[in-house]
Amino acid sequence: MAIFRRDRRPKRQPSDPAKADLPRLGKKTGKKSPPRGLAERPRGKAPGPKRSLTHVGGKVETEGVAEEAQKLAFALDVKASTDRDDDTTRSYVHGFHSYPARMHPVTAQRLAAAFVPRGGRVVDPFCGSGTVLVEAMILGMKPTGLDLNPLAVRLAKLKTTPRTDTELDHLVHQAEAVAEFAHARRKTKAGASRRFGLEDIALFEPHVLLELDSLALGIRELGKDHARGDLELVLSSLLTRMSRRRGDTSEGAAPRRLAAGFVTRQFAGKARELADRLREFRNTLPSAAQAPASVRQGNATKPAKLPGAPFDALITSPPYAATYDYADHHSVRLRWLGLDATEMRRNEMGARARYADIPALAAAREWMGELRSFLTAMAGQLAPCAPVILLMADSAVGASALRANELVAKAARVCGFKPVARASQARPHFHGPTAAAFRARPRMEHALLLRKE
Ligand SMILES: C[S@@+](CC[C@H](N)C(=O)[O-])C[C@H]1O[C@@H](n2cnc3c(N)ncnc32)[C@H](O)[C@@H]1O
Repeated sequence: MAIFRRDRRPKRQPSDPAKADLPRLGKKTGKKSPPRGLAERPRGKAPGPKRSLTHVGGKVETEGVAEEAQKLAFALDVKASTDRDDDTTRSYVHGFHSYPARMHPVTAQRLAAAFVPRGGRVVDPFCGSGTVLVEAMILGMKPTGLDLNPLAVRLAKLKTTPRTDTELDHLVHQAEAVAEFAHARRKTKAGASRRFGLEDIALFEPHVLLELDSLALGIRELGKDHARGDLELVLSSLLTRMSRRRGDTSEGAAPRRLAAGFVTRQFAGKARELADRLREFRNTLPSAAQAPASVRQGNATKPAKLPGAPFDALITSPPYAATYDYADHHSVRLRWLGLDATEMRRNEMGARARYADIPALAAAREWMGELRSFLTAMAGQLAPCAPVILLMADSAVGASALRANELVAKAARVCGFKPVARASQARPHFHGPTAAAFRARPRMEHALLLRKE
């Protein structure tokens, strides 16, 4: 069967998709007034809707075992939202911190509901900020996450550790104490607590840098307090937004005029929002005694026994070839949090910088090698016949497209996996220098189902 090849025939979608969804939290009704000293938008640009990995809509192509392909198509086909408040990527704890190529939570939820048995064990070996883990916990499953990026591990752990009301109240209390400390330093014109490198000086307005410094100092002074790790991530969530950079994955400048005290007020507000989201998440879990997800730092292309193995299913969105450099995108956050990026720089799969100077054929070969190492590492961790679902988009090297469905199908066969079904949907390509690669045939995002043979 020519599985994972192109198929132009759109297949019918489930007649009542809503029935397959589990109930989600109600929307918040209270409208918050904008914080004082509202930050200006980047000049000349109105904020667009947030893009999430699978958040575009459009026709879905399917191939392979029809029943399985339909489940994949349903998971992939999440309607676009242009209303920020209505954007499901921002409900629960998902939207607390930006993360490049985050999976759409509705996609994660639908995949887990369709392919993981009730109460089953699911692994996401490229867990990123933890979208699959959060949704699996809400469905009462036992998730395990792995990621090479220490920031991802911290975020995924934060989101998947249920907290008591006392812990959440304490988090808000400590955030307010740190904010008060930072306000006081600003008012008394206390100088920087340390010398800053040229990178930070170029990235932030001087008064913003001073406020961030006071917040970081206030957090450090919490010592071994439980709230410290959470507040470090609250600070991390603000870094790019308060900088002169347009976004994590963009070097473009976005000059911002921020009023004095704005960064500190945002910090306290963000901590309150995090506590609310964690409370909602905990209240949504099917059992009050639900254990946290097991999350660890590690390389998904190197065999190592994971806690929870053998797994009933694997659901993940691996990095795309030659598309992102997570170590670079997160370098500011990693530096501010004191996290070690050495392993990340050495072993990041698909890192764009590594693919930049190699010809297309060699790039495809290299990518196949990475996919094979990953599938081989995971084969020993799965129960017999366990489904493996990969959410991946096509990428490009120069003017050549790397079609994820075709390369995964080839790699799978030599690693003892059988391609069973796929669903694919067109996605825009935002990278100008490689635009020619998708002129003849659009770039697609694929939900690919494999099973161990
Ligand atoms: C597409 S992102 C996953 C996003 C995630 N699904 C989410 O919703 O946040 C791919 C992830 O792969 C991680 N990664 C890259 N190379 C890796 C490797 N060799 N082993 C484990 N994780 C790796 C990156 O750090 C990144 O978090």
